Amino acid sequence: MSKAIEFEHVAFSYPDGTNALEDINFSVDSGECLGLIGPNGAGKTTLLLHLNGILRGSGSIRVHGSQLCDENITLIRKDVGMVFQDPDMQLFMPTVFEDVSFGPLHMGLPDKEIKERVFKALNDVDMAYVSDKISHHLSFGEKRRVSIATVLSMEPKILVLDEPTSNLDPKHRSQLIDILRSIPVTKIIASHDLDMISRLADRVLFLEEGRAAAIGQTKHILSNSRLFKELGFYL
Ligand SMILES: Nc1ncnc2c1ncn2[C@@H]1O[C@H](COP(=O)(O)OP(=O)(O)O)[C@@H](O)[C@H]1O
Ligand SMILES: [Mg+2]
Repeated sequence: MSKAIEFEHVAFSYPDGTNALEDINFSVDSGECLGLIGPNGAGKTTLLLHLNGILRGSGSIRVHGSQLCDENITLIRKDVGMVFQDPDMQLFMPTVFEDVSFGPLHMGLPDKEIKERVFKALNDVDMAYVSDKISHHLSFGEKRRVSIATVLSMEPKILVLDEPTSNLDPKHRSQLIDILRSIPVTKIIASHDLDMISRLADRVLFLEEGRAAAIGQTKHILSNSRLFKELGFYL
């Protein structure tokens, strides 16, 4: 099985001295879905932001075998689609259509394909009816769904999602789970939504104070109540 992502001895401190990640080692196979769980402040977002070089710590990160470095960061960003925790970080164009077409447009795709991709992505999240709306007029849950569409429209080989089900109503949460399950790409999903993780993830990495406290098969990790108790993370 080829590796999509490999972390070796990755560590990161914020400028104020917070050690957010310490000696992180794991890999994700191509096509695999890894769930990233752990308490608030464990380092989940910090880890995800390393995947396309927004944050750069020490150690080694390889994406599809290529070392993440200044020379290939642009190439790697084409493969890694990142859905941020805060949709306002994802939506910066005047209208929903422009936001969702931004990626495909910058990939140099022909107009017809851009339109097709935008409407497919918006349909996937049930938001095609707002394509002409002003993005910042949408509700938080709607913004989240559009922000997911901005990444789906780029058809990335690796999908990275930071708490994708937060603020979604039950219908759109379960719709999102179905969409994610139907997209056969490599995925890393950080979430407190353990039900979603149990439905989607092949394996789970449990972060605790910047360290990988456990990694293993989803069933094995999520049924380990002793581990959860020890980490003060009650189920
Ligand atoms: N910009 C920042 N500057 C300083 N510390 C930060 C910054 N962002 C996050 N942190 C700290 O890094 C740690 C990990 O945060 P984060 O990755 O956001 O955790 P999680 O996503 O698991 O809740 C926390 O202690 C948090 O307070
Ligand atoms: Mg976070």
